[in-house]
Amino acid sequence: MIKKKFFPSRLATQTFAFLLFGFVLIQAAGLFIFNTYFTLSAGRASIAEVSAEVVRFTTLVKVVGIQDLPTIIRTLPKRGLKVSIASSPLENAQLLFATEPELLRTMVRDNPDQLSLSMPLADSRWLNISIYRAEHPWLFSGFIASIVVLTIAILMLCLWAVQRLAMPVEQLGVAAKRFGKDMNAPPMPTDGPIEVRELGEAFNEMQARLKRLITDRTQMLAAISHDLRTPITRLKLRAENIKDKVQYKKTVEDLNVMDQMIGSILAFARDYDQEEPMEKFDLNALVETLIAELIDLGYDVKSHLSIERLPFFGRLLPLKRAISNLIENSIKYGKNTEVSLSVTDAQVVIKIADEGPGIPENEKEKVFSPFYRVDPARSPDIVGTGLGLSVARDIIRSHGGEIVLKNKKPCGLVALVTLPLESE
Ligand SMILES: Nc1ncnc2c1ncn2[C@@H]1O[C@H](COP(=O)(O)OP(=O)(O)O)[C@@H](O)[C@H]1O
Ligand SMILES: [Mg+2]
Repeated sequence: MIKKKFFPSRLATQTFAFLLFGFVLIQAAGLFIFNTYFTLSAGRASIAEVSAEVVRFTTLVKVVGIQDLPTIIRTLPKRGLKVSIASSPLENAQLLFATEPELLRTMVRDNPDQLSLSMPLADSRWLNISIYRAEHPWLFSGFIASIVVLTIAILMLCLWAVQRLAMPVEQLGVAAKRFGKDMNAPPMPTDGPIEVRELGEAFNEMQARLKRLITDRTQMLAAISHDLRTPITRLKLRAENIKDKVQYKKTVEDLNVMDQMIGSILAFARDYDQEEPMEKFDLNALVETLIAELIDLGYDVKSHLSIERLPFFGRLLPLKRAISNLIENSIKYGKNTEVSLSVTDAQVVIKIADEGPGIPENEKEKVFSPFYRVDPARSPDIVGTGLGLSVARDIIRSHGGEIVLKNKKPCGLVALVTLPLESE
């Protein structure tokens, strides 16, 4: 856990961190090598060198004419000294009136790192010599500045490259997520390096194929169900000829159940229709109307919908069917239905609770399979096809949400629907 906190989790940040680490390491190694060898070979002037130069420049004054002196001083190489001609001596300088080499050498030896010397010239100006034996001869501001500029330039380049490489992966993630919710999501952009382009194209192809597959299967299911309706109607007519009253009644009942099943399969195919557009609507109002409609039909449903307006982006009709499937179940199988709606952490939670028999623990997952019903003998009068929960889960999941069923103490079932709220 702690490790996670310090280690970047995004691909771009991770790559950038690696590059940064590598770059800093290389720079540090470079500087170390540079410092060691540059200082040894070309850096710090020795005391003997410096004193020899002091002697050379002071002697120069005696042999060169005053008018040529500045040019010659400028052109001569200097190691560990600064030499200039000025109208006044240096501050805190030792004034030189005698220039015996031995004396000069002693002066330098006594104070080898910080020594300023000023010597009067014939035209009342001064020859100023200051000794500086830099500890890190390479550590001058130009060098530092160029390293800083270079570092910033390389880091910017890395940042750009890393972002460019990581962006398609992020886009793929977004596209996959969107496709999970909306089969009509636009294809992902296919530009960038060849590998990325191929990945994008493969993803788009997969999306198109999946969409075709699901649409074909759903249409087939709807077509078969639809065609079954005609023979069932014919059978109902033929059943009129059955003389035995009991047999007649049972046959018609069976045919009605078949008809109902076909009705729900058709409804399922309709809900599954991913062409249903995503739209913005008030989820709170949707649940409110659903409950009002059921109350109008004479059912007893309590509700706690505290939130005023809850803008939601999704498929209106399928969502309505999913929630009404759950509420209808709790009315059919239980009593004292209570519906509540709340918002937490960018999630809507819809809770549908009843005081019915609940569902045995080992069947709580099975009831989500199509056509699965908990032992129909338990409630023989309640007609159903076993499609309601599987349809509801499909719809909720296609919105990025989830349904869970929980048994309640002392009795009853709670269906918890969570739906992510998106900022889109
Ligand atoms: N609120 C509930 N209380 C008890 N049992 C339930 C409840 N909701 C669903 N069930 C059980 O789960 C089964 C599957 O439900 P569903 O998929 O809606 O199909 P159907 O309602 O058509 O039977 C139901 O047959 C029922 O046994
Ligand atoms: Mg049902």
